[in-house]
Order: sequence, then C-alpha cells, then structure tokens
Amino acid sequence: MNTVVITGASSGIGLETALLLTQKGYNVLGIGRSEINCNRAKEWILSKNPDANITFYLADLMQQGEITRAADEINEYLNEKCNGKLYALINNAGCVRSWYMTTNEGYEQQFALNHLAGFLLTYKLMPALLKAGGRVIMTGSQSHKGIKINWDNIMLQKRYNPLTAYKQSKLCNMLFAKGLNDRFAIHGIRAYVVDPGLVKTDIGNKETGALVNFIWSLRKRHGVPPSVPAETYAFLCDKKNAPEGLYYCLCKEKKYSRQVTSENADRLFKLSERLCGVHYGEVLKI
Ligand SMILES: NC(=O)c1ccc[n+]([C@@H]2O[C@H](COP(=O)([O-])OP(=O)(O)OC[C@H]3O[C@@H](n4cnc5c(N)ncnc54)[C@H](OP(=O)(O)O)[C@@H]3O)[C@@H](O)[C@H]2O)c1
Repeated sequence: MNTVVITGASSGIGLETALLLTQKGYNVLGIGRSEINCNRAKEWILSKNPDANITFYLADLMQQGEITRAADEINEYLNEKCNGKLYALINNAGCVRSWYMTTNEGYEQQFALNHLAGFLLTYKLMPALLKAGGRVIMTGSQSHKGIKINWDNIMLQKRYNPLTAYKQSKLCNMLFAKGLNDRFAIHGIRAYVVDPGLVKTDIGNKETGALVNFIWSLRKRHGVPPSVPAETYAFLCDKKNAPEGLYYCLCKEKKYSRQVTSENADRLFKLSERLCGVHYGEVLKI
C-alpha cells in the first residue's frame, strides 16, 4: 500500500483529498495543527470510509521546530511500517493574513506557512521520497500570475500588502516545484503544483480581520466544493508513470507564469535553504 503525507488535512481541500486517497486505497498520514480539528477530521473520514488507513500528526507548521519533530515521527513510522518509503507528499497547508504577522523565527506568516513549511518538510522527508521515487505536490493558485518575487524584501515588511504576500507565496510554490524538478528529477522525484480553482473553504475566515473575513465569505459562495480539486491530487498520485507537467488544474496541465524560470527557482531554493538552515545536497549523501 502506498503512503501519502498531506499537510493541512484537517479541513478544506486537504481533508477531501485525504478522504479520496483513502478511498483509492492509499495509506494517508495527515498533518494538522489542532488536536480537536484532527480528531474531527479522522472521525469524518472514517464515517465516510470505515476501511480508511488514516493517521494524524499534530504540528504547527509555522514553527520550524514543530516541522522537524513531526517529520521525525513520520520518518520513524515510515521506517517501521513502510520500508522507509514515502510515495507522495502533498504540501497543502496554507493561510491568508490581514496584517504583517511573524512566526517565532521572525518570518512573515504567509511566506512561512505557504512556502517555507513545505520546503523544510520536503527536505526532512526527502530520504523516504527518494527511496520510493516519490512525488511532491504543492497546493498553488492561479494568483501566482502577474507578480514577481520581491528579492530585496521577500517578507514584504516594508509597505506590507497581505494580498501581495499571498500571491508571492503561491509563486514560491511554483518556483519550489521547479527547483525540485531541476535538482531531483534525475533521482526519480517529480514535483507538481495543483491550482485548486476557487474553492468553498474557510481559509479567509481564519485569523483574519473583519474586512478579509467579509470579502471571503461572499467570494467563497462562488467556489467549487473541495472534492473537485481533490480529483487532481488523486490523478497526479494515481498515474503509474509520473506525469511530465508542472502545473495542473482539473486533472489537466495549465500554463503558468513566465517568472517560473530555473534562475528564479534556484535563487529561491538557495534563499529558502538559508532561512531553514538546511542544505538539500546533504540528502543525496545519506
Ligand atoms: N480555497 C481556495 O479557493 C484556494 C484557492 C487557491 C489555493 N488555495 C490553497 O489551498 C490550500 C488549502 O487551503 P483551503 O482553502 O483548503 O483552506 P483551509 O480549509 O483553511 O485549510 C487549510 C489547512 O491548513 C491548516 N493549517 C493552517 N495553519 C496551520 C499551521 N500553522 N500549521 C499546520 N496546519 C495549519 C488548517 O488547519 P485547521 O483545520 O486547524 O484550520 C487546514 O487544515 C492553501 O495552501 C491555500 O492557499 C485555496
């Protein structure tokens, strides 16, 4: 049975994807930040699929120490139960913010959760992914288009605009996937970004101010249910031969921003390594 790790599996897109993948026979390891939400999510999945193989791990992915701890626990499980192999990692946890807010490490929160958390978790799980010839899937967004990385001020603390910070974090998802493919495709790893479309979830209603909350409550009414994008993750996991594209929506390849170049990907990769205190080259030496 192939094992898949999904971050942000306690609600929204991650939860529906977790359900669908258990229904397709995958062993799913979900990560969530709240014990109550994780327990509720597990019960919901089991109510829909009593045979589901679903385990939850708790971690606040805004904190690098928590990412490392959860990754250690998951690696221990993979070594004991899965021959050290991880078939796929879905970096899906994400947030929106209304103001400039930072993590314990002092990183802007949307950049930290939407990009850096996946970057560090992937690094920690890379030996298991390499062993399986695994796939790494980021939850991106159409909003990565029409923007450039602000290299001189990547946390955007000067004149902070929360929407710009969100869009930039989604461009980071694209560049990270590109950077992974540039470095690890020859080692059997494939990375993708899924554009879920506009999806009816509560993302804009969590830890946001009244205005963002109100706008999102109106906007999400036009969204599709999270079961719709879940099909695209399943499509990317199910294909026996890893698909060749980078960016997918509704199970089809989609055009992406011209900012997604190897040069930008490499620059972000090196910066993210520095911000996480890791060096991806190390995992090839293990
Ligand atoms: N909804 C859309 O229209 C849309 C469109 C494009 C892209 N996306 C992307 O889709 C992804 C999933 O979002 P969603 O719409 O499904 O929203 P959601 O329902 O709020 O799901 C976000 C998930 O991330 C978890 N999370 C939040 N902060 C966390 C933290 N510090 N540590 C660990 N987990 C944390 C949440 O946990 P809790 O359950 O405890 O809140 C939840 O499981 C995000 O990356 C988002 O940017 C969404």
